[in-house]
Amino acid sequence: MTDFPRYRGRRLRRTEPLRRLVRETRLTPDRLILPLFVVPGEGVREPVGSMPGVERVSVDELVKDGGEARVLGLGGVILFGIPETKDAEGSGAWIDDGIVQRGLRALRAEVPELLLLSDVCLCEYTEHGHCGLLDAGGEVENDPTLELLARTAVSHARAGADIVAPSDMMDGRVGAIRQALDAGGFDHLPILSYAAKYASAFYGPFRDAADSTPSHGDRRGYQMDPANALEALREVEADLLEGADMVMVKPALAYLDIIRRVREMVDVPVAAYHVSGEFASIMAAAERGWLDGPRAMTEALTSIHRAGADLILTYWAREFARNI
Ligand code: PBG
Repeated sequence: MTDFPRYRGRRLRRTEPLRRLVRETRLTPDRLILPLFVVPGEGVREPVGSMPGVERVSVDELVKDGGEARVLGLGGVILFGIPETKDAEGSGAWIDDGIVQRGLRALRAEVPELLLLSDVCLCEYTEHGHCGLLDAGGEVENDPTLELLARTAVSHARAGADIVAPSDMMDGRVGAIRQALDAGGFDHLPILSYAAKYASAFYGPFRDAADSTPSHGDRRGYQMDPANALEALREVEADLLEGADMVMVKPALAYLDIIRRVREMVDVPVAAYHVSGEFASIMAAAERGWLDGPRAMTEALTSIHRAGADLILTYWAREFARNI
């Protein structure tokens, strides 16, 4: 025993009702956005090997998943598409009957209350797997790509997207998309930009799921260097000046400092993407019995919210909603 006044932190941790009373961060399902992968066909449900519980689904099945997301009270879903065919321009991204466009239309019609986001990028649709057009030397060309991204965003808007989310990391794409949306009669449609998107090893399983691994080189010429923080602030500032309504940091756990700095710098909603590799690492360890999966996942997502993310994109959104 000591006779000096001393801090007794344990008093407020003794029982669950006390802990609940003083809990500083509460993550709720309405802050979570579930990524969904849509493929051609009917009655398709293909499990993604590296992402337990995640499936690539055809449009008819997508509608069921969307219905479930709504019943669980999730904030929304974000669609990624795997097209029938790929080409040099990624035309599957913007054609009127593209796979994401079909998915959006079906969800809009069948689950009208569900918030629909669409990922705007070319990498799932180009035969080379890069996020833009290539020049003769195999480099991604910035400005010619902008027009295609803008076209993609407008076609998603026409198909019923509530929010478009460009993830390509071309310079000027938010401005180009904003201009095209406004011109197309969608000046009310918000843009969530993947503003600080890092060239990360944690995207590995997603590229299996979306079939979007670059056939040559990597994405370090357009995605950010993981060593940089100030650069993330510049990217965020630039996207806001170009008209982004919300900004995203991606991945999440290895970039909690970036989430915090962005949260302190801006006054728009901040999103973070708990990406495929972050999800898969926990799932794999849990499968081996090395950790308690649901607890680890809840802890990871709570920490992302605590760091400052208002919204979280996570493959675990449904399980989170069922667990609480
Ligand atoms: C498309 C895109 C990627 C992810 C989201 N949008 C892949 C990439 O940049 O290679 C990754 C998501 C995840 O890993 O869960 N550009």
